[in-house]
This record gives sequence, C-alpha cells and structure tokens, in this order.
Amino acid sequence: MILAGLIRAFFTALALTGATQGHPTSTPNNPLKVVHERRDAVHREWRLIAPASATAPLTLSIGLVQRNLERAEEFMNAVSHPDSDQYGQYWTAQQVADVFSASDSAIAETKAWLLSEGVDVARISTSAGRNWIKVVSTVGEAASLLDTEYGVYENDNGARVVACESYSVPAAIKEHIDFITPTIQFDSGLVSTSGSVKRRRDAFAPKSKKLPAHQHPGVDSLKNCSEITTPACLRALYDIPANVEPVAGNSYGIVEFAPQSYNQQDLDGFFSVYGHLPNGTSPIINKIDGGFLSDEPGSGTRGESNLDLCYAMALTYPQNVTLYQVGDSVAWNTATNNNFLDAIDGSYCTTSGGDDPLWDATYPHDASTPGAYAGPPQCGVYNATNVLSISYGRDEAARPASYNARECMEYMKLGLMGVSVLFSSGDSGVAGVTGHCLNPDGSYAPVWADYGRFNPIFPGTCPWVTSVGGSALPPNGTVGRDREVVAYTFPPSGGFSNVFPRPAYQTAALASYYARHDPGYNASRYNDTQQVRGFPDLALAAQDYVTGLDGGFQAFSGTSASSPAFGAMVALVNGERIKAGKGPVGFLNPVLYAHPEMFADVVEGSISGCGTPGFSAVPGWDPASGLGTPNFERMRRVFLRLP
Ligand SMILES: *[C@@H]1O[C@H](CO)[C@@H](O)[C@H](O)[C@H]1NC(C)=O
Ligand SMILES: *[C@@H]1O[C@H](CO)[C@@H](O)[C@H](O)[C@H]1NC(C)=O
Ligand SMILES: *[C@@H]1O[C@H](CO)[C@@H](O)[C@H](O)[C@H]1NC(C)=O
Ligand SMILES: *[C@@H]1O[C@H](CO)[C@@H](O)[C@H](O)[C@H]1NC(C)=O
Ligand SMILES: *[C@@H]1O[C@H](CO)[C@@H](O)[C@H](O)[C@H]1NC(C)=O
Ligand SMILES: *[C@@H]1O[C@H](CO)[C@@H](O)[C@H](O)[C@H]1NC(C)=O
Ligand SMILES: *[C@@H]1O[C@H](CO)[C@@H](O)[C@H](O)[C@H]1NC(C)=O
Repeated sequence: MILAGLIRAFFTALALTGATQGHPTSTPNNPLKVVHERRDAVHREWRLIAPASATAPLTLSIGLVQRNLERAEEFMNAVSHPDSDQYGQYWTAQQVADVFSASDSAIAETKAWLLSEGVDVARISTSAGRNWIKVVSTVGEAASLLDTEYGVYENDNGARVVACESYSVPAAIKEHIDFITPTIQFDSGLVSTSGSVKRRRDAFAPKSKKLPAHQHPGVDSLKNCSEITTPACLRALYDIPANVEPVAGNSYGIVEFAPQSYNQQDLDGFFSVYGHLPNGTSPIINKIDGGFLSDEPGSGTRGESNLDLCYAMALTYPQNVTLYQVGDSVAWNTATNNNFLDAIDGSYCTTSGGDDPLWDATYPHDASTPGAYAGPPQCGVYNATNVLSISYGRDEAARPASYNARECMEYMKLGLMGVSVLFSSGDSGVAGVTGHCLNPDGSYAPVWADYGRFNPIFPGTCPWVTSVGGSALPPNGTVGRDREVVAYTFPPSGGFSNVFPRPAYQTAALASYYARHDPGYNASRYNDTQQVRGFPDLALAAQDYVTGLDGGFQAFSGTSASSPAFGAMVALVNGERIKAGKGPVGFLNPVLYAHPEMFADVVEGSISGCGTPGFSAVPGWDPASGLGTPNFERMRRVFLRLP
C-alpha cells in the first residue's frame, strides 16, 4: 500500500459511495448511511481510555461543502495570471462570501435528515454565512446520527478529547458535507498541559548561534555575507533599494503566534547598528484574541518574532510594518492560522471557517487563568495587509486532508482579494517538522519510520500560497561573484504534496523538471505522479541572519528568515505599483512561474532527510530551491508592466 494514510481516509470516503458499514437498514428514521471519513491509525500520542458517556453534551458542527471551489483555479488565474485581461481586478469580501457559500439545497437536505432522526428543531442552527449547521446534542445522539462510537482519548500530557474512528452520513446528503466535528480529528499540535510552551510545535524555531561582539564585520560591509547575513547583504544580493519612499495605502504584515513575542529593546539594538532606523521604531500592533506579548527572554520566546520584524522593518523602512500578534498565554489551547484568518476575514469565522476545537484555540478562555483571553473569538476585526508573511507550519499529514483543504481555500480567497500570502517552506528537508518521516505505506505514525516516506510541510504545499525556501552563498562566497546554493547548514523543506493537485501555473515547470531530471525515488517515497503541487516556489538567503536578542545579537538560520525578507521585496514592489496608480500584486505564483527571468537559478545543493539525500537543485524549477533567488529590479520591471 502506498497511499498516504490520511489521504486514504479522505479519498476512501470519496471512493466508497454506496459502501456500507455493519448491516444497514434503511427506514424513514434511519436512512442508509455511508462512511464519510475514517482514520487509519490512532496517533501515537493518543490512547483510547474509555467509552464516552452517552449523556455527555456534545455540539456537532457540520461543515457544508462550499459551492464553486472547483473553480478556484479559474478565479485565481483571472485576477493573478499575467495574460489575463482582468489582472489585478480583485474581489470584494462580499463577492467572495456570495460565490462560495453552501447551496440552499445542501442546507435544506441536511436539516431534513436531522429532523427525520428526531433532533428537535430548536437545537439546530445555521451560521449567518450558511456554511455551518450546528446541532446541540449528546454523545449518545451524535453516535446514533453518525453510526459511530465515541471514546475518550488521552495523550501523553494528560489532555483528553472525545473522538471516534470513523463516521457515516446518509448516502443522499454525503455530497453536501465537507466534514463533521468532533469526529476523527486529534490535536497533533497540542502542547503540554503542564510544561512550558516557549517553543510552539508549529513554529519553525530558527536555529541560532551567539555572536560575540568582536566578530561583527562592518555593518554595511559585504565582505562577510557568506558567514553573516545583514540587511546590507540582502540589499546587495537581491538588488533591494536602500532609500525607500513611504507610499500611502501600502502595507506589510507579519503574523506571530503567542507566546512568541518581539522585544522592542532588541529591535532598537538591531536598528541602531544594522538598520539605520530611529530608536523606538515599532510595528503597528494588531492584537488578536488577546495578542499576548511575553516578557520572557531567550530565543525560544523572542527569536522568531525578533528575526521576522528586524528584517521586515529594516528592509522596508520608512514603510510601516504591521504585527498581527495572535493568541493569549493559555498553553494548552494556543492560537493557530485559523484564529488569525477569523480575525482578518469575518466571513471565514461565521461561514466557512475551518476552526476545530481540537486544534484551533477556542475563546473565551477561563478568565481565572493568568494571561487568558476571556473575550469572544475575534472575527473580522482587522483588514489584511497587502502582503502577509508567516513563518509557522506543520506536517501536511498531521491533520486530515479536508481540514487542510479548508485552510488552503482561505488563502485562495485572500488571493482573490489581492493579498499576497507567503509561508516559509520549513527547515527539515524532506522530513517533517520534527524530523520524522511517514511510514512506508504513507500513514502518519504510530510507528515513526525515519527512513520512510517523505513528510511534506503545510501550508507550503497549498497551491494558493507562495512558499519560500532557503539558499545561501557558498562557503567563502562573495556577493556579486558567486551564485547561491541551497542552504547547507540545515536542510530547507521542499518536495511534493500528498494532498494538493498540481496547480496550472506549475504545469510547465514540473513537466520540464521531470523531463530533464530523475529525482531518483519511486512512489514509495513520494507522490511521483507529476500531478501534485511541488514546493517551494523560490528560495532566498536563510543562514545566519544577525538579529537583536536579549540585549545582544545572535545569528538565526531557517526559512523563517527567508519569508519576511521576500515579503519586504514584495511590499516594495507594491509601493512602486501603488505610486504608479496600480493595485497590489496579490497572488504571486502565476507571474513568478511565467517570468523565471526574475530569479537567479540555484543549481547546487540538496534537501536531505528520511535517510536520503532528498531532492537536488538542478537548472530550472526544482523542489530544493524553487525558481531560485529573486531580483528586486527585475521583479519591479515585470510587475510594473502589468495592469
Ligand atoms: C565573518 O563572520 C564570522 C561569524 O561571525 C566570524 O567568525 C569571522 O571572523 C568574520 N570574518 C570577518 C572577516 O569579519
Ligand atoms: C505609520 O503608522 C503610524 C501610526 O499608525 C502613522 O502615524 C504614520 O503616518 C505611518 N507612516 C507611514 C509612512 O505610513
Ligand atoms: C533607545 O531608547 C530607549 C528609551 O526610549 C533608551 O533606553 C535606549 O538607550 C535607546 N537606545 C539607543 C541605542 O539609543
Ligand atoms: C477595512 O477596509 C475597508 C475598506 O477600505 C474600510 O472601510 C474598513 O474600515 C477597514 N476596516 C478596518 C477594521 O480597518
Ligand atoms: C574559506 O576560507 C578560509 C580562510 O581563508 C579557509 O581556511 C577555508 O578552507 C575556506 N573554506 C572553503 C570551503 O573554501
Ligand atoms: C498522487 O496524487 C494524485 C493527484 O492528486 C492522486 O490522484 C493520486 O491518488 C496520488 N497517489 C497516491 C499514491 O497517493
Ligand atoms: C521503490 O524502490 C525501492 C528501492 O529503492 C524498492 O525496494 C521498492 O520495491 C520500489 N517500490 C516500488 C513500488 O516500485
């Protein structure tokens, strides 16, 4: 068996229409049901400890299939493809909500089923955006509705959830249902209930090394850029202008999840030496669901945030940078991308949100917990900036394909509204975030097979984001003389999705990659059908970024650094377009792949993992370095020519 486990759970459901579970009988009150989703193996951390009490309260959330999602590519190409005459004609939030909401018949038929099974109408509600149906219920009733058995599962940290192994829905309404919670989902990203959560498991946690002061090269010197990356090195490498004019209407956002927290003194220390920014220059802070900022020193709490802001701000100053600080200090229920997406898109939380109480933080938190956010979940309270850079990710296989797909579709909707969404590709080569690989049969745990199948990182595998990988000057290499190679002090993440099909913008690049190179692995290592999304889309310097930390400096390495630096370049391109009376660039990939001349190809290095050398950089797009490293001047020219 070479199907990836969780994909199997998803595709089985699609393939099994007509199949039945047990001995079905179809009566008016008990319609013929078919399996909708099934889990292959319980995650290693979770053990079934007892049946769930039938009388325990349980609210079922039924996510209805949104309309028109199959047209995502057509819609995206219309506003983002350089050959489209509608390039840059972005949608309003209302248009997005109207086009993708669930159909009236989906709502009516799902409600009719619930009523036929004896659910009191007063316990059924439809969300304002008409994409969710909620049923206030009990474990016993839910088990009967879904032909399943609920159990209590416990993980190594003592956290408990109510979940099941598979569930069924009436054959007649199966096509209307995306997924139902709580069912087969587990929190594989859940953090300890007791221990410290300084290091979120979904932060890429860039690796750092101390920089004794005497080792600092001249701050604007380009002599040591192969050892230490500074704003001056990045400007020289990528032709980024130093004297930037502020442009009204331009905006750039960095997203951080508590307890990761920037520290103003650390930024000041960096700006005073490396940034030439006035002391006290701070981001505009949009706090979401508490927006907790910790005082705790150390790279575990400050590293990611300080790194992202030092470079986003230094490269775009005097343009403002917005910090979306998401979540409170409650360790066992930390905020996720979905909590962030709720806050910038009111239609996401009330209509098509993928929020799952097992994975996403659910507010209000108990006010008696110090640092808890006890308010309602924030919904549509901020506008998205034109560019968003996010240096957090997780194994694609950690959550069901259906859950990933909803989140991915939200990035697509942001693209339709003209927002460029950038994610770091990850720092673990072809292995997963924690260095583990999938089992050879594609399943995710319970036995980690570190020699097994490649374990790609989401959201980089979502076709509707721009995934930024890592490069570096070769050892002793010089700016302007030496071509960059794949980052080599750690393996940047790349490869191919097990879930998302190949987007049209990648068709030619993938065909050319496979025609000229044999990656050297068969279907037991990755989906080699040439029909899936490859990542990253590009690469940018990822090693030894000097960063203000705890009153001094440290050098951080990781694609966590590459994404905010590329975001700064996109923000500056937007500034040029806005000055010229045009709109922001929105979803970038169709233009990037149509204009590979904006990049310097990276042809050396590889991204190891799973006991293999992984994938190698080759001429043209490749899963180690994408299209290569960007050049600002060439990007500016291409994007200014577009309408
Ligand atoms: C370059 O940077 C490295 C790392 O900080 C340091 O060890 C080395 O002395 C520097 N070299 C020069 C010429 O500044
Ligand atoms: C940056 O934001 C501050 C505070 O919102 C505002 O006063 C300032 O004008 C902004 N600067 C630019 C260049 O937009
Ligand atoms: C920056 O300002 C703070 C107070 O506003 C001050 O304590 C600090 O010394 C200043 N740092 C530099 C490098 O000037
Ligand atoms: C978001 O942008 C719209 C349109 O520019 C504006 O009307 C609205 O006030 C903004 N909302 C927030 C929360 O800034
Ligand atoms: C880099 O330069 C140093 C000092 O000149 C030398 O010792 C080292 O071998 C060089 N490394 C490589 C990979 O060329
Ligand atoms: C590989 O991806 C393709 C396209 O998404 C899909 O149809 C196929 O089932 C996948 N193969 C495996 C073995 O997962
Ligand atoms: C894939 O390759 C490995 C060795 O590289 C081999 O053992 C295995 O049988 C091959 N699997 C398939 C499905 O071809």
